[in-house]
Amino acid sequence: MKIKNICCIGAGYVGGPTMAVIAQKCPHIKVTVVDVNAARIAAWNDDDLDKLPVFEPGLDKVVEEARGRNLFFSTYVDQAIDEADMIFISVNTPTKTYGKGKGMAADLKYIELCARQIASVSKTNKIVVEKSTLPVRTASAIKNILDHTGNGVEFQILSNPEFLAEGTAIEDLLAPDRVLIGGDMSDKGKQAIQALVDIYANWVPQERILTTNVWSSELSKLTANAFLAQRVSSINSLSVLCEKTGADVNEVAKAIGMDSRIGSKFLKSSVGFGGSCFQKDILNLVYIAKTYGLNEVADYWEQVIIMNDYQKNRFSNNIVSTLYNTVSGKKITFLGWAFKKDTNDTRESAAIQVADNLLNEQAHIAVYDPKVVEERMYADLDYLNTRSEEENRNLLKVKADPYEACKDSHAVAVLTEWDAFKAYDWQRIYDNMLKPAFVFDGRGILDTQKLEDIGFVCYSIGKG
Ligand code: UDX
Ligand code: ADP
Repeated sequence: MKIKNICCIGAGYVGGPTMAVIAQKCPHIKVTVVDVNAARIAAWNDDDLDKLPVFEPGLDKVVEEARGRNLFFSTYVDQAIDEADMIFISVNTPTKTYGKGKGMAADLKYIELCARQIASVSKTNKIVVEKSTLPVRTASAIKNILDHTGNGVEFQILSNPEFLAEGTAIEDLLAPDRVLIGGDMSDKGKQAIQALVDIYANWVPQERILTTNVWSSELSKLTANAFLAQRVSSINSLSVLCEKTGADVNEVAKAIGMDSRIGSKFLKSSVGFGGSCFQKDILNLVYIAKTYGLNEVADYWEQVIIMNDYQKNRFSNNIVSTLYNTVSGKKITFLGWAFKKDTNDTRESAAIQVADNLLNEQAHIAVYDPKVVEERMYADLDYLNTRSEEENRNLLKVKADPYEACKDSHAVAVLTEWDAFKAYDWQRIYDNMLKPAFVFDGRGILDTQKLEDIGFVCYSIGKG
């Protein structure tokens, strides 16, 4: 089966970049990305590539090459479904905020809506690919909905989890460690798997394309994110011990990372991990384990989240205690709001929790982030419902210039590891701050020795 026409439902951080790369690498396939959010689609179609809704290094070039050739962004969801041989579902699957499984289970309402829409529109056989991170056995739920349309159309469901990391999405998509495709082991299932293998084989070496049953594929995605987040929580749990004992967490990380069995990646101690996946996927894993009565398994993984919350709160507590136990009315500057560098995504960013804690202590916060827009920051705070929208806007100010943001503040806190922060004129920042001037480096990216020579009082995570 040769695929000629792909539709992707959901034009977000996953759907947009993934489809742009598929279109770039497969000029013979028409790829249409659809979304119910008309403003988002308009931004994807904007002639000014700086206005793309997702900031990713290199994405603009890929979109420029493929858009209008075989890559299209549209709000006509039904039409794109109807025309497609293969449909990717890349809609959001946030943690449930209501009812059974509240705060833990994945909210599948957007997925279910997609399945129902595909069921009602389709007139020809289709392969449906789960791209969003989903709890194990979601594919069978989708299949159930699709198989009961009564109009004789046949659907094959594949699981093809996305492993791209934001900020390096294009690199990850162009040269993935592996592509995972889960499907039904029947003859028709195998044909569907092969159709998707053939698409990736246009640029990914065959030995990097793994095929499994659907449930292994779904569970692998949750497991990969749980293991990665666990490494960050493991090193963060030691950062506090380093601070107490006089050890340096970066030295410890280097020493253990050189053991090839441990490996050097994902050992950077930080103010806490964020992003749309880690917390959500672990909570999902915990919920699934609990559903099967596996409480020890659930508790084991939940500890990764508990450690992450501890790390975020520890950082803000440290700011308060260092500033003589009160930050009331004091100006504190945040460098960075995104959950990591090279993205404009702020979902679950540590900055949000740290800001909330400090605002509860009546601090005044000024924020500078190179890519996150002001409305996003206020939306993140408003979503917490801790204080009124008016209070959030009065207490937190967003600045377009980092030096202006730091002027007259008592302390600077680094919340995102943007490279540009390292190259700032720190002498100039110091000269315009109130004294004593403090720096709290939540990412361990600054040269604290240099800063101390200037006159700053420094705290760097995990340094005794
Ligand atoms: C993650 C997975 O890496 C990716 O494979 C999956 O598809 C989606 O989830 P992402 O959330 O985009 O990707 O970013 P990632 O690079 O994994 O970072 C997650 C968080 O962990 C960030 O807040 C980052 O700053 C933090 N982190 C990462 C650390 O604090 N220390 C590290 O050593 C690595
Ligand atoms: P992710 O990081 O998983 O890509 P995003 O929130 O960035 O998540 O993107 C998901 C996109 O899916 C959003 O733009 C949202 O509007 C879109 N979406 C959700 N449900 C539907 C639906 N039923 N039909 C079309 N688009 C949808």
